[in-house]
Amino acid sequence: MSLTKEELQELVRNKLGNRPLLVVSNREPYIHVFAGSQVRCQVPASGLTVALDPVMRACGGIWIAHGSGNADREVVDEKNRVAVPPQEPSYTLRRIWLSKEEEEGYYLGFSNEALWPLCHIAYTPPTFDEAHWNMYQRVNRKFAEAVLDETEDNEAFVFIQDYHLALLSRMIKEKNPRLVTAQFWHIPWPNPEAFRICPWGREILHGLLGNDLLGFHIRYHCDNFLDTVRLLLEARVDRERSQVTYGGKTTLVRPYPISVDFHRIAQEAARPEVEKEMEQIQQRWDTGDKFVGIGIDRLDYTKGIPHRLKALDKFLTKYPEYLGRIVFFQLGEPSRVHIKRYKELNAEIEDLVEEINWKYESDEWKPVILLREHLPPSTLMAFNRLADFCIVSSLHDGMNLVAKEFVSSRIDEDGVLILSHFTGAARELNEAVLINPYATDEFAEAIKTAIEMPPEQRQARMRKLRQVVAQNNIYRWAGDIISQLADLKS
Ligand code: F6P
Repeated sequence: MSLTKEELQELVRNKLGNRPLLVVSNREPYIHVFAGSQVRCQVPASGLTVALDPVMRACGGIWIAHGSGNADREVVDEKNRVAVPPQEPSYTLRRIWLSKEEEEGYYLGFSNEALWPLCHIAYTPPTFDEAHWNMYQRVNRKFAEAVLDETEDNEAFVFIQDYHLALLSRMIKEKNPRLVTAQFWHIPWPNPEAFRICPWGREILHGLLGNDLLGFHIRYHCDNFLDTVRLLLEARVDRERSQVTYGGKTTLVRPYPISVDFHRIAQEAARPEVEKEMEQIQQRWDTGDKFVGIGIDRLDYTKGIPHRLKALDKFLTKYPEYLGRIVFFQLGEPSRVHIKRYKELNAEIEDLVEEINWKYESDEWKPVILLREHLPPSTLMAFNRLADFCIVSSLHDGMNLVAKEFVSSRIDEDGVLILSHFTGAARELNEAVLINPYATDEFAEAIKTAIEMPPEQRQARMRKLRQVVAQNNIYRWAGDIISQLADLKS
């Protein structure tokens, strides 16, 4: 059953009463940056923050996160707090400051060079470094201190996000046992054989089992987690109830497929500013009479961007009748750029784009436009609305909210989503054209299918996709987790 923003607000009032809600994540939902001498507020490229911001707008509360913007310190009070969103403040963002050394060890090092590749099947091996692990523990403690400072000895619900903070629940509960915690793991959980190579795997599991509730996007990841616990810890694993009892404490393990704020995205997509931007894009890139394809990603090796460029190349070779008639926009913000693998990926994408353009371009036409910069939500929405097809070709992805944002913004009930089988989203969005990003020939055929799909079929499929996202929206996701957590403790 779908849930509205107002229904979530009521559910939170009923279930949580006057116990406060705290969200804790590494990435912050709003980043302040200098633009010359001005301070500008940006929304980061993060599925996690896109999903949780509407929940916090609806429920209020405190969100604790790393202050990563170069102007973040300019706008906070003496407790490092700032009211957000800037246009209509409805919750409090409390920022945590990390030194370069902490960021390197905890964020780039252990989180993104060890846990990220460990959990994604993308054939990039993880690197385990003891100094990074030590820093990961230190920074988790830093987050714990901020939570304890906010909650003192009181009861509160703490909703922890992702793989950066695997040790947090246990750290805070040791100091304040009245806290109730849920943690959502936004990325896949690997099978036990893959996970056991982590030298601190037991410590990670021990940390996560400090939670009352642990959520993953899909049942398959829950089962992988349960099997991993069974392999590595002395714990009672109950597959049927989907729970683990460890050291006398029980943690429920449940699937909650995350989503987006369907109605808000649809409303914003209809704004005149977005329509104006659509016209500007058409004029600037001369796309009026051409098929437009888009890919919008944080530039990450799990997203299969080189794979999609290779499929596009294959498509243009096989079907030369489309030369001059299609433009593909690859949009995306560079990410984690201090990690070698991400630098290599950026270079690879640049080379591929150059190569494809060189091979096929004419004086008036280039098949691929690469825009590697931070683009505001209204521009991304304009691209979503303009596109004849959107490609999400992740090699492995917990959910992938770009796919759900594309569907939500298609108020014209048109456009085709080409979606990798290896995303959590593919389990719900089965009216998309599903692809294996590694199978280049099939992928090229899928692009042809998308472009040539008869309008009635395109529209019927998009209507079904929109029903799914409208139904399983972000308020329902949050409502399910909060209800489960509150019921556990009532
Ligand atoms: O959803 C996975 C995730 O790593 C989030 O935790 C994060 O906010 C997002 O992807 C973007 O990555 P990053 O915060 O490292 O830029």
